Amino acid sequence: MSKQKVKIVEVGPRDGLQNETAIISSQTKIDLINRLADAGLAHIEAASFVSPRWVPQMADAEQVMRGYTAKAGVSYSALVPNLKGLENAIEAGVQEIAVFTAASEAFCQKNINCSVAQSLKRFTDIMALASDRQIKVRGYVSTVLGCPYQGEVSLAQVSDVSSTLYEMGCYEISLGDTIGVGTADKVEQLIRNCQKTIPLEDLAVHFHDSYGQGLVNIYAALSQGIRTVDTSISGLGGCPYANGATGNVATEDVVYMLHGLGYETDIDLNKLVAAGHWISDQLQRINGSKTGLAMNKRR
Ligand code: HMG
Ligand code: MG
Repeated sequence: MSKQKVKIVEVGPRDGLQNETAIISSQTKIDLINRLADAGLAHIEAASFVSPRWVPQMADAEQVMRGYTAKAGVSYSALVPNLKGLENAIEAGVQEIAVFTAASEAFCQKNINCSVAQSLKRFTDIMALASDRQIKVRGYVSTVLGCPYQGEVSLAQVSDVSSTLYEMGCYEISLGDTIGVGTADKVEQLIRNCQKTIPLEDLAVHFHDSYGQGLVNIYAALSQGIRTVDTSISGLGGCPYANGATGNVATEDVVYMLHGLGYETDIDLNKLVAAGHWISDQLQRINGSKTGLAMNKRR
């Protein structure tokens, strides 16, 4: 990847919407995905095939994955926790999935009801079936800069889990600051440590913005050579199993920063901002993107 290009992974339709309590129609989700693709996003995490008892908002993953208008060159992925999730994803025609575990035992238990070791064991079966079906697999590691239940998480814990996922065949490892507690110095240490076992170009950052550190933490990651960043349109979201965690850094704000810094994204900021206002209106929420609000005022 060229030095000046940054890949954005838009997680709004999944991470952004999973925490909404009022059930959103499948058509609204599908329209959002289409608008994001139209704005130039080439990597969209569109749904998750998790237990509907655990996350009711994602119960219509199959309809969503069958409903969008596939745009050439865009990857539409889905989160999968276990083999059943993958089987359902395959039924729905999914071609890229993401598996997810954590650097902290306590969070893993709360989120997917098993230990980190058990989650990795589940992934062995997932990787085998995915490889058989030529489905690409991305790997998430949550709580890399702190856990809502156990507090501190060591760099060694993060790199152990991350490198295991990478060795299992995940093509990219996304490092999740699930509750947004990290600061820039910690991000730098994190990246320096992870890149000992995983090439920089295969690492991504996934920062929730709960403490307002998202942009500066992304800047710190970029300065360490990271070129893949997860974001959520209008800053939607939060994890249902991490109380108080807000959404990922708003895609609009990150794209504004990247363009200002001279990075290419192939994203049309005007269309992106329009998509952000549209979904905020649909959800009757205040738009969580400062860039979105500022650009709207200037119109
Ligand atoms: P469990 O209750 O231990 O599952 O949940 P189980 O295997 O014992 O099965 C219980 C029932 O669930 C069975 O049904 C299964 O068939 C069903 P029954 O026989 O009782 O009728 N079941 C499923 N149904 C649909 N889809 C499935 C599935 N699996 C089992 N895939 C499980 C374990 C992992 C399923 C559950 O804990 C779960 O779904 N957790 C997901 C939680 C979640 O989605 N969290 C948010 C996403 S992670 C996140 O946001 C963090 C991230 O953004 C990075 C960051 O920010 O850090 C990625
Ligand atoms: Mg997340």
